[in-house]
Amino acid sequence: MSYWLSFNLVELRFILIPMRQLPATVLVIFGITGDLSHRKLLPALAEIKRAGQLPAKFKLVGVSRRKILKTQVLPEGCTNLADVLETQTMDVTSPEDYEKLKQKLDAYGRNYQIIFYFAVPPRAVLPIVRQLAGVGLNQPHTKLLLEKPFGVDHQSAKELISEIDAHFKEHQVFRIDHYLAKEMAQNITVFLGSNTIFRDLWNNQFIESIEVTALEKIGIEGRIELWESTGTLRDFVQSHLLQLTALILMKPCSDIFDFDEIPRRRLAALNAIKPADPAKAIRGQYKDYRQEVGNVDSFVESFVKLTVESTDRRWRGVPIQLMTGKKIDEKFTAIRVRFKQTDTSSTNLLIFRIQPNEGIEIDLWVKKPGLKRELQKLKLDFSYDQSSRLPDAYEMVIIDAIRSNHSLFASSAEVLASWKILQPVLETWQKNGQGLKFYKPGSTYEEVLAKPN
Ligand code: BG6
Repeated sequence: MSYWLSFNLVELRFILIPMRQLPATVLVIFGITGDLSHRKLLPALAEIKRAGQLPAKFKLVGVSRRKILKTQVLPEGCTNLADVLETQTMDVTSPEDYEKLKQKLDAYGRNYQIIFYFAVPPRAVLPIVRQLAGVGLNQPHTKLLLEKPFGVDHQSAKELISEIDAHFKEHQVFRIDHYLAKEMAQNITVFLGSNTIFRDLWNNQFIESIEVTALEKIGIEGRIELWESTGTLRDFVQSHLLQLTALILMKPCSDIFDFDEIPRRRLAALNAIKPADPAKAIRGQYKDYRQEVGNVDSFVESFVKLTVESTDRRWRGVPIQLMTGKKIDEKFTAIRVRFKQTDTSSTNLLIFRIQPNEGIEIDLWVKKPGLKRELQKLKLDFSYDQSSRLPDAYEMVIIDAIRSNHSLFASSAEVLASWKILQPVLETWQKNGQGLKFYKPGSTYEEVLAKPN
């Protein structure tokens, strides 16, 4: 019998939770030769296999347009997948090829669940979903694992969801937001739910402001077509930043392993956020971007800063700043929660470091040693043991989809709630080509913000 090891932060008490035996699974990856499979999915699967956490009965079917050998599919470090991998050459527009796929999958029998992973460009998703349903590959034992973007605005997301709903039930659809699966993001729920000292302070009486920041050194990495039709607001804010915000704003769960309750609370938090005010939205574009995408008139942003507010009475009046950008001088994702200064206290800062150097830090005020009555600020810092490896978010995504645990995936209602928040900014930016800050690659975020519009 295998076990999940978890620990309660307060008492450092180790709890062993028996892990249900994982169901027999066939994972079908559309786009096995693509960048996502190569960089994320196959390494994640190889790691899960090395850790002995794949279901005892497991097959991986890699779908590609051209005939390809297993050895060409598996990147370095993933050759341990050779015995579970099968390749399937398919023209994804051809109904006959879906019939062949169905025959192959039917041969496994109903004891196997079938998970279809869409590692394909967004425009390819719906046509494949329709074809799968067309040959009857939408039975109860099948699931869809979808990558964002889920639409490009509220209306298109609604249409996409209702099209998919016509063929698959909501519980069969897993919409990936890999930030939810990051170890520290999961820890926010655990930390706030398990530590009463924070639970009681978690409101506008004690908290002054919240900042959710995710900066990256990389640019758009050759994703020209995708980026020109999305941009940072759609790519990063609608998904990752708003989901991290929801984890912070949601009512802490006292039962941190109640996996059904967590998405419900995230949704309530998202629904309470007011639509963002375009007047407070800042966008930027790194110099060279226009050359890179071959569009000298492009107004697509690579940097965004927004300030939003919640209507929840626990949070009313607390500004929530969301900021993200590409080609900034450093890579980091963190959430900073600033506590109010009161008559009897100085301000404290609590930081969740999502990446890198995952951990939690708190600024505390203490007496400076000596004869004078002076204060000094000290940091209480919790970091994961750097020698132990944290699982990659994609490992968690795959394992949780196999286990049918929806808590780390975005529901259709969450997706729609996020688009609603961004809709006024999307519309204003669409109409108005003004107000873009051009910044040098490698700038600090302060430098970007200081640029004129
Ligand atoms: C993806 C975005 O979802 O997340 C990319 O589409 C971004 O634009 C990436 O670079 C960042 O992920 P991570 O895990 O490297 O921080």
